Amino acid sequence: MDNSPIGVFDSGVGGLSVFSQLIKLLPNENYLYFADTLNLPYGNKSGEELIEITKNIFNFFESKNVKAVVMACNTTSALTYDFLKSRYKFKIYPTVQNVSKQIALQNYKRIGVFATNGTVNSHAYRNQIKKYSQNTEVFEIACPNWVSIAENQLQNTQESISDVKYHLDKMLEYKPDKIILGCTHYPYLMSILSKFTDSEMFIDPAKIFAKEIYSDLLNNELLAEEKNHEPIFYVSSNPQHFIKTSKLFYDVQYAEEINQLDLVCTKKV
Ligand code: DGL
Repeated sequence: MDNSPIGVFDSGVGGLSVFSQLIKLLPNENYLYFADTLNLPYGNKSGEELIEITKNIFNFFESKNVKAVVMACNTTSALTYDFLKSRYKFKIYPTVQNVSKQIALQNYKRIGVFATNGTVNSHAYRNQIKKYSQNTEVFEIACPNWVSIAENQLQNTQESISDVKYHLDKMLEYKPDKIILGCTHYPYLMSILSKFTDSEMFIDPAKIFAKEIYSDLLNNELLAEEKNHEPIFYVSSNPQHFIKTSKLFYDVQYAEEINQLDLVCTKKV
């Protein structure tokens, strides 16, 4: 048993889709959620930039004595996990690597992935899925505008609807059995996606991911015995915007703005 907190992070509200599943499955845990709204969007940043950013976030969580960090963010899981995984003492759960295996085991023949430029260009989903299911074909399409549609709650504008339909039509040409929403912000667009295709077509990895984390904590005897505090939310800029946008997945009441100096990496890894 370990009552130390679990850190969860993403560039913004997207990771709340994962957090809301985690808290359902593991209500006794003590959570710290960090939204790096100052550096959002992550999707067009280089691997080097994202390693620096992720290191700072890991160091921040380390200073809070976490037992585990959940990389809710697909882009940093794809581009920084391999570099950082052996450099910290706490458990690290990267989303792409955790959910790809479970999805691959379903034996779909053709899988589509919508994700950020960074995730698509890394081919992390394709490589991970093919590790477990060589014959599955994986089609990855980047949707660079979708994070800002979600963050700015623009789901009802004609421009957003056309943008989503454009990418969906392109994906449907590949005739996928399922489409992974490979960026935590994309489930915010379900209201548009389901206008054009059965919502059963889409896999939101959050549920699968939360189950994987649950099993691993259980197997390692790291589950918390009791909750010491309510979830604490930190943002690197504009807490009011974060609170307002959070509502679809979790009703955040308060978020503390972190001084950037607290996030500057002081530890060499
Ligand atoms: N939501 C993150 C992801 O899952 C990053 C989105 C972004 O900031 O571009 O990839």
